[in-house]
Amino acid sequence: MIKIAPSFLSADFVVLEREIRAVEAAGADYIHLDVMDGHFVPNITFGPMVVEAISKTTALTLDVHLMISDPGKYLRAFADSGADICTIHVEAGGDLRALLIEIRKLGMRAGATAKPATPVEAFYPLLPYLDLALVMSVEPGFGGQAFMPESLETVRRLRAEVVRQGANAEIEIDGGIGLENAGLAVAAGAEVLVAGSAAFRDGKVVENVAALRRAGLAGLR
Ligand code: DX5
Ligand code: ZN
Repeated sequence: MIKIAPSFLSADFVVLEREIRAVEAAGADYIHLDVMDGHFVPNITFGPMVVEAISKTTALTLDVHLMISDPGKYLRAFADSGADICTIHVEAGGDLRALLIEIRKLGMRAGATAKPATPVEAFYPLLPYLDLALVMSVEPGFGGQAFMPESLETVRRLRAEVVRQGANAEIEIDGGIGLENAGLAVAAGAEVLVAGSAAFRDGKVVENVAALRRAGLAGLR
């Protein structure tokens, strides 16, 4: 089993409800929502208000990727907005363990992620507190960037450590995922594939998600 998480960074916000319906019709597993503050990353996107608007109109799992400094300040706001999974960056500051415990206390699934240059070992002590471990396969900040192949080794090492610890964290990969690398990511140990541009390309969300799922599943064989 693999999961596909279309990233709304590539959605058309003028017709957001149509995009949500398309993602539902495509049988996507999560909606990946990229929150950026213009400080932790150079780009600015949206915050809890937009997450709340989306959560009111879909039952799909909202997978919120916080690319913001000092995430602790905003955890309650995202919980109240209807986020199901809340992922923080290990580089964003604060006591990571305490933040992850708080995310769970607030009723969300806890996720952690790291920029490509951060050693994979940063995840290891956090695994008992994680429902999701997100490997970044591009520098966070923008959609449509080229996949970094070295992230496959990060996924492989993280998978081995998850198995070693007997941890439950689901491994997700985010950035530059498309038909050409979805199978490789799954073969390396990724269970959730985030896709922005590849999911929304040409407005054919249903076809794109199906093709991504097929390509990903091929990596299981
Ligand atoms: C990048 C975001 C990604 C982005 C992926 O900072 O975290 O979720 O939307 O977009 P693609 O799939 O186009 O690389
Ligand atoms: Zn993301």
